[in-house]
Amino acid sequence: MEEHNLDQLLAQIDMTRLPRHVAMIMDGNGRWAKNRSQQRSDGHYAGITSVHNVTEFSSDLGIKYLTLYAFSTENWNRPTEEVETLMYLIGWAIERELPELLRNNVRIHLIGDMERIPEGPRKRLFDCRDATAHCTGLQLLMCLSYSSRWEIADAARKLARAAADGSLDPDSIDESVFAGYLATAGVPDPDLLIRTGGEQRISNYLLWQIAYSELYFTPTLWPDFGKEAYARAIIDYQQRERRFGKTSEQVQQNPGSL
Ligand code: IPE
Ligand code: IPE
Ligand code: MG
Repeated sequence: MEEHNLDQLLAQIDMTRLPRHVAMIMDGNGRWAKNRSQQRSDGHYAGITSVHNVTEFSSDLGIKYLTLYAFSTENWNRPTEEVETLMYLIGWAIERELPELLRNNVRIHLIGDMERIPEGPRKRLFDCRDATAHCTGLQLLMCLSYSSRWEIADAARKLARAAADGSLDPDSIDESVFAGYLATAGVPDPDLLIRTGGEQRISNYLLWQIAYSELYFTPTLWPDFGKEAYARAIIDYQQRERRFGKTSEQVQQNPGSL
């Protein structure tokens, strides 16, 4: 591929048609480390720089929502040492990034079963989330101890409880009522889902929300995913025609009707 620098790539982005919500599966840290004969934890550490870069880039561009898959429900099954390192790194990184997040008006939301996060990192995460509660710029959703099936089952449990105690009429449950019980309530569905690391699968991520998202898979490993790679993904996204079930002719005649 022809090499472009960031400015050249930025010039190709149509700022009037940015995705409102970008979701990412940050995969490939372990392989990145292995390629360098380093420890998996070194890969996770290197991945923090990519989180910093994609957050800054989203914020600078004016993207409203960025959702990052940092740790899945299934990742609890990894070796204890790796899980402990990841938990420590997540708490440490968010604290380190807090001043810049505040400077950039970025608000942190935590999505997932936070009860399972060890107390130390959980407190750091909650403190940073609360410190950004007033921020109105980029809304950064961190998915931690998250899986989509967990989230959907959790929503079903809450709906059942509300129906049982009489505060919800079961016949009123439609797609929008259901979505209101998900962890992403009030957040528009992702327009673009990016997965780094080469796998072409969803790994239990946002199954409900990505019904009509554009999918972008790149072999680039997460620690190598920088602003240029992100810009390329957005340019690719902007070349697609989103039809939402309609015909191409309908979309072209009335683009605003979607
Ligand atoms: C993604 O990188 C980070 C997490 C899942 C926490 P991996 O650790 O899955 O890296 P690979 O897929 O083994 O290369
Ligand atoms: C998905 O990556 C989860 C995160 C990036 C946090 P995995 O590395 O856990 O996915 P699988 O197991 O290869 O599908
Ligand atoms: Mg992986």
